[in-house]
Amino acid sequence: MRPIFKVLPLLAFFAALLLTPSDASLLRRAKNKTMSAKSFKVLITHPEVPQSGIDLLNENCELVRVESLPPKRSELLQKIRGVDGILWGGHEALNAEALDAAGPQLKSISTMSAGIDYVDLDEVKRRKIPLGHTPTVLDNAVADLAVGLLIAAGRRFHEGRKKIETGNWENYHLNWMLGQDVRDSVVGFYGFGGIGQAIAKRLSGFDIDQVLYTTRRRIDRETEKELNAKKVEFNELLAKSDFVVIAAPLTAATQGVFNATAFNKMKNTAVLINIARGKIVNQNDLYDALRSNRIFAAGLDVVDPEPLPPNSKLLTLDNIIILPHIGSATNRTRSDMATIAAHNVLRGLAGERMLSPAY
Ligand code: DGY
Repeated sequence: MRPIFKVLPLLAFFAALLLTPSDASLLRRAKNKTMSAKSFKVLITHPEVPQSGIDLLNENCELVRVESLPPKRSELLQKIRGVDGILWGGHEALNAEALDAAGPQLKSISTMSAGIDYVDLDEVKRRKIPLGHTPTVLDNAVADLAVGLLIAAGRRFHEGRKKIETGNWENYHLNWMLGQDVRDSVVGFYGFGGIGQAIAKRLSGFDIDQVLYTTRRRIDRETEKELNAKKVEFNELLAKSDFVVIAAPLTAATQGVFNATAFNKMKNTAVLINIARGKIVNQNDLYDALRSNRIFAAGLDVVDPEPLPPNSKLLTLDNIIILPHIGSATNRTRSDMATIAAHNVLRGLAGERMLSPAY
């Protein structure tokens, strides 16, 4: 046996030790049950899908890869013809046009994202094609970023930086640049799945007073207790929260929910954080609420549209911090997402249940 094969199990063991429990269990299941898809043709729709996913698929499948960057729709539609599986690497529309171009032999698709708002789910379901996505493995990375945004917005990082640049560092005031405390605050979550709960877990280390959440279904009692969390109606969430964190998927029911009516129900000291999807917020109404100091500040990792045009009026405000949708953008997280997506595709091809089925 070549020496490299002898050390591989050891390397895999140490890699597993580095993973958080939920990541580890997902990836362990992936390893145990990897199927034996043979000679399938799989399309990778983005040239920058991490190697971890490519290597897995390469073992059993013939790969076809989109090479243009940003990926050209025309190249995708041409290369998609006749493939058995697809690792859908970007946020390009996955719709009837793409599925028709692929053909009826298509057996398995996985996105490399948690959110699947760019997928025409009805079309995928109608054709009975198994679809996977990659939640869970990105919870920690997105939660870290959310906590960063919450503090940055509440403590006016962006405005402070601008004061320096414009020569307005007025530290002769005693009450200059005062912000909002995280300590003893009520943090309200609109959507409280894996990402929301990972944020709440981190914030418990900041001595917050209470977590409120609005979801369709109540979470389990044990997690509620652990996170000091209480399910409330949306209006109560808005009225009582010092920080409101949007962590819900974009659906017809959540689109535009954060509008003028909602902002008018929030405290004028409240800070709004959005790490979910831009369309959940009515951006014109948010602009008005921030400009008139109806609410204190906002921190957004997601906006509508993306990319946000450089002349967007949101960028003129002092009390908003905006990031370019980088919640899951760490090397490890993206690599794990590619691994899970590849296993999803392989399992779909083998007719097995995917690791993270999207429906
Ligand atoms: C997701 O996976 O949905 C994140 O927003 C990154 O795309």
